[in-house]
Amino acid sequence: ASTLGAAAAEKGRYFGAAVAANHLGESTYVSTLNREFTSVTAENEMKWDALEPNRNSFQFATADRIASHARGQGMKLRGHTLVWHSQLPGWVQNLQTNDLRSAMNNHINQVMAHYRGQIDSWDVVNEAFEDGSSGARRNSVFQQRLGNGWIEEAFRTARQADPNAKLCYNDYNTDNWSHAKTQAVYAMVRDFTSRGVPIDCVGFQAHFNSGNPVPSNYHTTLQNFADLGVDVQITELDIAGSGQQQAEQYRGITQACLAVSRCNGITVWGIPDHYSWRSGDTPLLFDRNYNKKAAYTAVLEALGGS
Ligand code: G3I
Repeated sequence: ASTLGAAAAEKGRYFGAAVAANHLGESTYVSTLNREFTSVTAENEMKWDALEPNRNSFQFATADRIASHARGQGMKLRGHTLVWHSQLPGWVQNLQTNDLRSAMNNHINQVMAHYRGQIDSWDVVNEAFEDGSSGARRNSVFQQRLGNGWIEEAFRTARQADPNAKLCYNDYNTDNWSHAKTQAVYAMVRDFTSRGVPIDCVGFQAHFNSGNPVPSNYHTTLQNFADLGVDVQITELDIAGSGQQQAEQYRGITQACLAVSRCNGITVWGIPDHYSWRSGDTPLLFDRNYNKKAAYTAVLEALGGS
């Protein structure tokens, strides 16, 4: 196979990209997307502030452009993200407990109903744990007002809203098996699976740089989560740097996913370098002229393509 998507498909996986709706009119952006990728994540357009900027007033048009592009190309669609402390509209921050609970459940219900049947995997909850050594929950408005049960409640609501979508917990800095944050997320997923709380997948964002390198135990982390009976997905991959050094890290990540049978897909967080959220860096697989970088070749080779 000569594209990322086709090579990944031969290994039973998808290969996706984060897409921004405002680039869908650019011909090289779209032709690269259509040629190489078999899954799409909206980079910002399905977040709470974009979809429900005012209470119970939903704006789906921009996100729908991405969804319909994916559908037209036969691509999978990852839903990102239902409940997150960031990109949360101001009105949510000011709600008290009962109101916040009903707003969270209403948001999940309305958004999942709108996209029912179109989403392969939903990031139901994003980034709910602290960084650092505490292993604690992040002190978000949801944690403060709803207490420890809020994540479980979000997943239970999500399962009812769209029983056919896979429900994921998604986070970053959960790559190194020995880190407290990884252990805390693992403990939550183990608790959920043991009590029958609906969860189907764990997303590993995989934003790597020199301060947060790909850990040598990455494969162990993915395998240990998979052994809980959930799929694992690499959901927002980008790696700072350039050249062969960057390429080898991309190769290693791809190999780690392929080595875990329940690692069913990889998504890179953008297409050409200059549209990356990491401005000034070159963390993606295509340069600003949409030339394939060494990192692209390494990923394609790791997938068995050429
Ligand atoms: O849309 C507005 C525009 O109207 C305004 O003029 C402009 C001025 O700043 O801002 C635009 O919004 C920006 C938005 O991206 C769309 O481009 C926001 O400022 C900017 O903060 C936002 O950044 C996004 C970031 O999430 C916000 O948290 C990045 O594009 C997006 O790549 C990034 O993605 C996150 C994942 O969702 C979760 N994991 C981490 C990842 C990287 O931070």
